[in-house]
Amino acid sequence: MNRKRERRMSFRVFVTRLIPEKGINLLKKFCQTVEINPYDRSLTYDELLHYVKDSDAILTMLSDVIDARLINEAVKLKVIANYAVGYDNIDIKTATERGIFVTNTPGVLTDSTADMAWALLFSITRRVVEGDKYTRAGKFVGWEPMLLLGGDLVGKTLGIVGAGRVGTAMAMRSMGWLMKVLYTSRSSRNTVLEESLCARRVSLDTLLRESDFVSIHVPLTGETRHMIGAKELSLMKKTAYLINTARGAVIDEEALVNALKNKQIAGAGLDVYEEEPKLKPGMKELDNVVLAPHLGSATIETRTRMAVIAAENIISVLKGERPKNCVNI
Ligand code: GLV
Ligand code: GLV
Repeated sequence: MNRKRERRMSFRVFVTRLIPEKGINLLKKFCQTVEINPYDRSLTYDELLHYVKDSDAILTMLSDVIDARLINEAVKLKVIANYAVGYDNIDIKTATERGIFVTNTPGVLTDSTADMAWALLFSITRRVVEGDKYTRAGKFVGWEPMLLLGGDLVGKTLGIVGAGRVGTAMAMRSMGWLMKVLYTSRSSRNTVLEESLCARRVSLDTLLRESDFVSIHVPLTGETRHMIGAKELSLMKKTAYLINTARGAVIDEEALVNALKNKQIAGAGLDVYEEEPKLKPGMKELDNVVLAPHLGSATIETRTRMAVIAAENIISVLKGERPKNCVNI
């Protein structure tokens, strides 16, 4: 055995899906066994159980359900490093009871997710996807005065539900369109938004009533599940748009399909779904919604940074140190 190999820690790390190699290489440098899901798909629950059983560390995707049974069967497990900022896919309580660190990847995906929220906002407001379909179908036969008219952005009111990192970055980008900004925040005032944009902290009801664009940026918790339901949608302006790049279940998706169908609001731009990857019946038939397949953090740079951070969190725990992005212990 060469000396380099000897210095590597004799731990087993399992990575549930291939991620950018910078993160994998980092893990391989420190750990003797780094195994990666061999398939180009998510693992089934039973496959996950099988791989997790003997692992000291797992690097998980937001689509992996890491429940109490799985955590309890993984007797050697010391850390669950989620490859996401959100961690609603993990039974935090059980992990904590077992003394297992749970980590996430905050900060590095803030800008790419805020950009995605704007991409959806533009796409739905200026009817980019409808226009693309129309053009490809050969229907574009010349400029028309009344073709696919959308809405303006300048001077409108942007409502940020949850002014954390991503919500703040989304709001800061509205400067270019001289928007009025309202926000809700569970914890404290957001002085950055108040000082740079004269943003106002308001109740959710006020935000829904007054905003032309409502963008969701809260994590999914027991408290935020279905926080936007039929009643909340009925408070929104008929001309308003709803954007969601956070978690699908924050919105009652069935109520949203109804609101869009009945033109109770102008449209929606969604990156996340209540029962991902399933869509609620009626959703895909609607023209006034733009649907993206959970791409918030999907840039090469961001995903590479996430891979490195998740790997670093694992290495810290295996070295006996506290991981930088611990969310539970
Ligand atoms: C993506 O949705 C994430 O939580 O990182
Ligand atoms: C996530 O990073 C948030 O705080 O919004």
